[in-house]
Amino acid sequence: MNLTVEALTVRYGDRTILRDLSLQPLHAGHVTSLVGPNGAGKSTLLRAVAGLLPATGQVRLGDVVLSGLSVAERARHVAYMPQTLPHDVALTVLETVIAALEASPSAVGAQRAEQRALAALERVGAQYLALKRLDRLSGGQRQIAGLAQAIVREPRVLLLDEPTSALDLRHQLEVFRLAQAYARDNAAVVVIVLHDLQAAARVSDHMVVLTQGRVRVEGAPNVAITPTTLADVWQVRARVEPCQQGQIQVMVDDVL
Ligand SMILES: Nc1ncnc2c1ncn2[C@@H]1O[C@H](COP(=O)(O)OP(=O)(O)OP(=O)(O)O)[C@@H](O)[C@H]1O
Ligand SMILES: [Mg+2]
Repeated sequence: MNLTVEALTVRYGDRTILRDLSLQPLHAGHVTSLVGPNGAGKSTLLRAVAGLLPATGQVRLGDVVLSGLSVAERARHVAYMPQTLPHDVALTVLETVIAALEASPSAVGAQRAEQRALAALERVGAQYLALKRLDRLSGGQRQIAGLAQAIVREPRVLLLDEPTSALDLRHQLEVFRLAQAYARDNAAVVVIVLHDLQAAARVSDHMVVLTQGRVRVEGAPNVAITPTTLADVWQVRARVEPCQQGQIQVMVDDVL
């Protein structure tokens, strides 16, 4: 089932952050990366798609109009992993993953909830964190726990806001693999916000470049990421070269 975003408008007070924003349909089974400068509106867009901000316009998953559902019903379909994770929570990681599971209406029994939470931790390679307190984790460990919280309900739409910003190289790669496998195995729409354009091009089938609340370009990585886009959107002088398996290499030479 595709995710469709049409004519989305989001305001904070009297400031319009996203104006009439529409996207090409985001395909189930694919990873889409959402990139753009600081303040472009990436987190705002993900939060609006998740139903965590008031917005006008329409968000649909297949025939289901997500924007017409209550927050709790919407949580059955969509999970959002925030860019900044809470860290003053005196619960174990396992308890927070169980709480994330129970945030949607389809309640499961306590024993089943624990099994599913442990399975989610296993999927992100973090069973060893289960009984540790969230407020005693390192930044990267907290991010991995956040990922388990996001996938535990097995949402059809998984929105990850800079999920690798605190991770070492190996864990970054593992999260990218997980995002791709999750999309494929769950026929899910996965959207991932990243600042590393090369990583974004590598992980995604489709890219959306956002600037000042507008879509500047969307398409395959080699269409979205060009020296012209890098100059116009990020104000840097860069070279983009093709490399193996249709990947691209981005080399940033200087600021413009
Ligand atoms: N709660 C808020 N109240 C008022 N304005 C906000 C709020 N959150 C974000 N904004 C504003 O909305 C704009 C978009 O912010 P957003 O967080 O979506 O950017 P972003 O693309 O995610 O940036 P970053 O890469 O820094 O995370 C910014 O100008 C920001 O100042
Ligand atoms: Mg953000």
